[in-house]
Amino acid sequence: MDSQKKQALIEQAFNAQANAHAPYSGFQVGAAVLSDNGQIHAGCNVENAAYPLGQCAEATAIGTMVAAGGKGIKAIVIASPSDELCFPCGGCRQKIAEFAHDDVAVIMATRTGTIKQVSIGELLPYAFRNTDLTHR
Ligand code: THU
Repeated sequence: MDSQKKQALIEQAFNAQANAHAPYSGFQVGAAVLSDNGQIHAGCNVENAAYPLGQCAEATAIGTMVAAGGKGIKAIVIASPSDELCFPCGGCRQKIAEFAHDDVAVIMATRTGTIKQVSIGELLPYAFRNTDLTHR
């Protein structure tokens, strides 16, 4: 991925973060995925008064990608609300892996410009994927 695309992804993740609905945790997260067709789809966390129904930013971004016809993730950015990097939760790692090969980049970014890039394979080794469903 070229650095311009990476910058655009980071910017859109932070734009979405500003719209996060996080009145319960006060922890606003943004995410942006680059889909296999080159489009960027952003999302934010959407909390609920019924706490367990809250949705992470990554899930919103992935759902938006799927609704627009995207079939795969080329890269994903997670925009933290603080100076600390925000790594995806376990459930979101699984949701990312559904649409990403092991080597796909997961990029964490803070407001102050710290960036850390790893692969989804590092975050979720031995992921359970559709190929594991062949023994039904
Ligand atoms: N959250 C995300 O949206 N993404 C993450 O990677 C970590 C956590 C949200 C869930 C909840 O709305 C809030 O942050 C606090 O956990």
